[in-house]
Amino acid sequence: MNDAVRAPLPRQPQPIPLAQAGAARPLIDAFQRRITYLRLSVTDRCDLRCSYCMPERMRFLPKKEVLSLEELYALATGFIARGVTKIRITGGEPLVRRDIIDLFSALGRRLGHDLAELTLTTNGTQLATHAEALAKAGVRRVNVSLDTRDRAKFAALTRRDSLPQVLEGIAAAKAAGLKVKLNVVALKGVNQDELPDLIAWGHSQGHDVTLIEVMPLGDVEQERLDQYLPLDEVRRSLEACWTLKDIAYATGGPARYVEIAETGGRLGFITPHTGNFCSGCNRLRVTATGQLYPCLGRGERVDLRAALRSEAPEANLAAALDEALRIKPEKHHFRMDARGAAPAVARHMSMTGG
Ligand code: GTP
Ligand code: 5AD
Ligand code: SF4
Repeated sequence: MNDAVRAPLPRQPQPIPLAQAGAARPLIDAFQRRITYLRLSVTDRCDLRCSYCMPERMRFLPKKEVLSLEELYALATGFIARGVTKIRITGGEPLVRRDIIDLFSALGRRLGHDLAELTLTTNGTQLATHAEALAKAGVRRVNVSLDTRDRAKFAALTRRDSLPQVLEGIAAAKAAGLKVKLNVVALKGVNQDELPDLIAWGHSQGHDVTLIEVMPLGDVEQERLDQYLPLDEVRRSLEACWTLKDIAYATGGPARYVEIAETGGRLGFITPHTGNFCSGCNRLRVTATGQLYPCLGRGERVDLRAALRSEAPEANLAAALDEALRIKPEKHHFRMDARGAAPAVARHMSMTGG
């Protein structure tokens, strides 16, 4: 193993001088898109089993396949050196990984230096335990999945009766001063009728809300087409009772936002099917085993773990990133128009964290 990954997580900030950070070799792909956003998965494991994400009997990776926290930090450093300024920690569920706060703390020391934002996407079940530590590490915003506020529906959808913990987690995040965005996957016949109530509740608590179109990743033992609710349809039905105004607010993610006059809150739409956003793609994603997927909706990948564990990790990592830029596709090829079709992508969302 090389020094970069043998070194313990640093306790002092180790920012890269700005002159070096990204300026020398920015991450620009073949379609002139500049990559500034890394989605870094720290585990494929999860304590829920959302029916649109994974099957009931999901098989997880052996732990030895997964990168150590030191390796994850070294990887993040390699991306920061190439101009990544936003890192989102994802999973599976990132907060089920032991000692994960150590990684947040180490990366958090770079905030205000060569990193502008450190954040996470979580299912919220462990947020009550970790919210304060996350805030202390420098996290300012969290995205929490919440598809329903109905306890029985939540238990059916996630196959776990964890709604009370999730609501407690959301409240704890707010109490710790974290800005919360609620992620709601719009599901036909499941939470369709509840969407206005979920949005109004989120806004009443001061949270942004984002609706997401379901994407065909991995076999989930259910017909995807039966889950799919197009968001152009949802928007029209919301407009029957509310006034939606498009706004320029942007977080660097794929959502396009409106403001709702009646609730006074912001609502985002993530529309891979009804409103392609690939031309503005600024992100790459890495799995917990160090596989870089340049596109969520495609299979191409580059092995960063091999680069990281090689004898010349810096040079090999740089070369692997160049390869990822070279093969990053122009857009995804998700299709939601064929019943019984194999998933567009065989891997599950929990491998790449979205
Ligand atoms: P913000 O920083 O708040 O903008 O977060 P985000 O929307 O980038 O991240 P989050 O983890 O909350 O993701 C919300 C949804 O967007 C998830 O369903 C992701 O899978 C999806 N998503 C994020 N990036 C991409 C992408 O590049 N392509 C597609 N198709 N979906 C994406
Ligand atoms: N399609 C769309 N969104 C999904 N998520 C998980 N699986 C899917 C899917 N197949 C969402 C989660 C979480 C975010 C990371 O992605 O609900 O909010
Ligand atoms: Fe877990 Fe998130 Fe997948 Fe639900 S969507 S099973 S919370 S990884």
